[in-house]
Amino acid sequence: MYAFHDEFQQDPGLRYLNHAAVAPWPRRASLAVAQFAEQNVLLGARDYADWMDVELRLRERFMRLLNAPSSDDIALVKNTSEALSFVAFGLDWQPGQQIIISDEEFPSNRIVWEALAPLGVEVVQVSLSGSDPEQNLLNACGPKTRLMAISAVQFASGLRLDLNKLGHGCRQRGVLFCVDAIQQLGAQPFDVQANQCDFAMADGHKWLLGPEGLGVFYCRAELREQLKLHEYGWHMLERMGDYTRTDWEPAKSARRFECGSPNMLGAMALEASLSLLEEVGMAQVGQLIEERVQWLQDGLSALPGVALHTPLNPLRRAGIITFSVDGQDTQALYQRLKQENVVCIPRGKGIRLSPHFYTQARVIEETLTVLSQAVAG
Ligand SMILES: Cc1ncc(COP(=O)(O)O)c(C=O)c1O
Repeated sequence: MYAFHDEFQQDPGLRYLNHAAVAPWPRRASLAVAQFAEQNVLLGARDYADWMDVELRLRERFMRLLNAPSSDDIALVKNTSEALSFVAFGLDWQPGQQIIISDEEFPSNRIVWEALAPLGVEVVQVSLSGSDPEQNLLNACGPKTRLMAISAVQFASGLRLDLNKLGHGCRQRGVLFCVDAIQQLGAQPFDVQANQCDFAMADGHKWLLGPEGLGVFYCRAELREQLKLHEYGWHMLERMGDYTRTDWEPAKSARRFECGSPNMLGAMALEASLSLLEEVGMAQVGQLIEERVQWLQDGLSALPGVALHTPLNPLRRAGIITFSVDGQDTQALYQRLKQENVVCIPRGKGIRLSPHFYTQARVIEETLTVLSQAVAG
């Protein structure tokens, strides 16, 4: 039995394969929230300084998870969409400039760029089909291209991109590189420095095993002051806490993106969840996820009429595997899985399954049994 099993005492019949949507919490996140609630009841914010230590640890954990040079490069944000908006509406655009995205992006990483249309900025959607999706994206960069915004792992197909190739290609071409990391961070190792990311963002409620509403925004230090700020308040000041001073300047660190009181409740939970990922280690988390995805792939491939919509090459995927069954209505199949307590979701061309590192053999075997019965009619 895997040593961290006690952290995930889910409902006995539950078959949870939906970490690419919203993940269950580990026990320690639930305890952290319960303790925080009790402390608020008994003591209010008497020990606020201790809470700030937790928040500091959270920033440091994010720094290590992303391999950011410093925790000063980390801002705690509401979600991925907010961080993307900070970049989109922070940069100083010129009419005619272009943004490269793929034609498979989750709406957050498309809408935000399309919202720049009134400034004369053009969004170019590039197909990821074919054997070299990175080259498709890089080939689309021209003299007017200012930024490439891409999901590390596509939410529907599960395709994982070679961020190293993209990051280096963008840097060579003088194009800013912005990575929506939500489907990779916590599922496979991630490295903003090795991959030359200028911006990276993710929310905590998927592979990071935290609650919704608290995410991370990495901004490369050299670019921080280029992003025009749109939210102001006491917390984002360089001399935060000196309330008598009337002159002010935004924090030099990425705290400049955090206008007011932090989401302390979320920080308690997410700090606990990330501590678990760090204890297991992201290399091992990634390997355990890949084993489980491979297992699902082998089981699905053995079923008649199953089509896989996720690449078979492990380097080309992370924690998502999406499939459909010839002649079977996806919604009907999804309802059947739901009835059998398999938690998954229809996405893209089929049904998306997403196990995490702790997912037990039982869950995978039982899901494959349910599917084989469904396929047999
Ligand atoms: C690729 C991708 N980006 C962004 C999001 C969600 O963004 P947010 O954190 O703003 O809710 C999702 C959620 O499914 C996603 O799959």
